Amino acid sequence: MKNPIIAPSVLSADFGNLARDVEMINQSVAEWIHIDVMDGHFVPNISLGFPIIKAIQKTAKKIMDVHLMVSHPDPYIIQFREVGADNITVHMEACTHLHRTIQLIHSTGAKVGVALNPHTPVDSLREIIADIDLVCLMSVNPGFGGQKFITSTLDKIKRTRALIEKYNSNALIEIDGGVTLENAGQILASGADVLVAGNTVFGSSDPRAMISQLFEMNAVNS
Ligand code: DX5
Ligand code: ZN
Repeated sequence: MKNPIIAPSVLSADFGNLARDVEMINQSVAEWIHIDVMDGHFVPNISLGFPIIKAIQKTAKKIMDVHLMVSHPDPYIIQFREVGADNITVHMEACTHLHRTIQLIHSTGAKVGVALNPHTPVDSLREIIADIDLVCLMSVNPGFGGQKFITSTLDKIKRTRALIEKYNSNALIEIDGGVTLENAGQILASGADVLVAGNTVFGSSDPRAMISQLFEMNAVNS
């Protein structure tokens, strides 16, 4: 069984010691760094923007996985790429012309992710699933770290996996929100590839060891 990709979410990092926390991720087995951008419009919170992402890039040796919780991402895509985003994830619910947005992101050389809020059906991915690199299933309502995992996501993961296989897509499945040591096994058993973890990692007394524990997680029967 393949180890999952762990994507620690810097939303829960200490922003006063950001370089230290990014260096911790560098030293860990995490392959990605998850960076949440919130605009106070698509979600009821404002997080960080270009200068902070650029500062993260200075230290980061891992893939920068940028999750845009913003209402109108298109005008900013090129700039996110310029400040170091390797993966750019936009929300299905925010993009009226999602196909165009996917093309725009790919034209920058970044990988494309599409995120679904908990209420958004997996079927809405059908027409674009073969064109994207990542499906981000929100397992909490986006906007805040430290929320409780919505268990119906497990079934959603299985249906996303089936859709990916049906359309011969190479997309990875990323789970974002409320991931813990307790539920990671079931999440992986359902078919996830990438685990985002904010509170579980940065709320731990030993964040690097916690990343290793998540990485060593095996799928358990769900
Ligand atoms: C929530 C963000 C998440 C958040 C996850 O809107 O998209 O990436 O950082 O945090 P935890 O792991 O604490 O639920
Ligand atoms: Zn996120």
